Amino acid sequence: MGFEHGEDAGVYRISKGLALVQTVDFFTPVVDDPYTFGQVAAANAFSDIYAMGGDPLTCLNIVGFPIKRWDISVLRRILEGGLSKIHEAGAVLVGGHSVDDEELKYGLSVTGLIHPDRVVTNGGAKPQDRLILTKPLGTGIIATALKGGMASEDAVARITESMTALNKSPSELMRKIGSNACTDITGFGLLGHALEMAAASNIGMIIDSSKVPLFAEAEGYAGKGLVPGGTRSNREFFSCKVDVKGQLSPVLLDILWDPQTSGGLLISLPPERAENLVEKLHRKGCGTAAIIGEVVAGPVGRIIVQ
Ligand code: CO
Ligand code: CO
Repeated sequence: MGFEHGEDAGVYRISKGLALVQTVDFFTPVVDDPYTFGQVAAANAFSDIYAMGGDPLTCLNIVGFPIKRWDISVLRRILEGGLSKIHEAGAVLVGGHSVDDEELKYGLSVTGLIHPDRVVTNGGAKPQDRLILTKPLGTGIIATALKGGMASEDAVARITESMTALNKSPSELMRKIGSNACTDITGFGLLGHALEMAAASNIGMIIDSSKVPLFAEAEGYAGKGLVPGGTRSNREFFSCKVDVKGQLSPVLLDILWDPQTSGGLLISLPPERAENLVEKLHRKGCGTAAIIGEVVAGPVGRIIVQ
């Protein structure tokens, strides 16, 4: 299974009962504290494995570091932060590679295990399914406010808590209860990744914007124009496939397009199981997880936002 349908990770079957699931992700810092950045980058890298229903096994560090300008202790803190998440995931670090780089970058290549018959793709959503989002949106907007020195301490603490949270228990709950499709929300924002799922699954979606969990401060910052460039490019690239019904604030739409770092899972599952999963997610620490919409037979590959 490769990348033709925008799958989150590649899957390679080794035997009847065992397949490898592999992914890689790295980026430049989104927060100031090195240890926290390491945690965010690692949690983000695991997400593609969790979205597919896999269990991370081994990790390799990927590092770009400005060795002439920055003290090596900064890199040590980043790697320690990453390692704390590798341990929490129950995986092991088996090596890595670093290069001298103008700009700091860190992330992981992750290899996980999965049963070949139990791979959760983004292509299995069915009409009448409910759509569940496990983390609030707005990390891109709040990180932009942080870079501009305009974010409140509170807002930064909340996105940090969210971005460092592994999608491990949502993935395990999803597997236990049973889902039809899943993907993680990252750079393309909620609507971009939902559109990928709609296209891969040959279905349409209705998203109820009033049900989508958001970080409280995101609306205020977006209203002041603190919107990352990625939000605009997501909207320009994908909005021809989205129909907005009724009076929706442009700020709220910006948040639906906002690129997320280490975002939550978008899970599509039959309606009779949806409430059960939301309840269990709430009990496992995903306090804002919510049903945000449903799958419809058509128009195929399009989303109605209301
Ligand atoms: Co992904
Ligand atoms: Co990814």
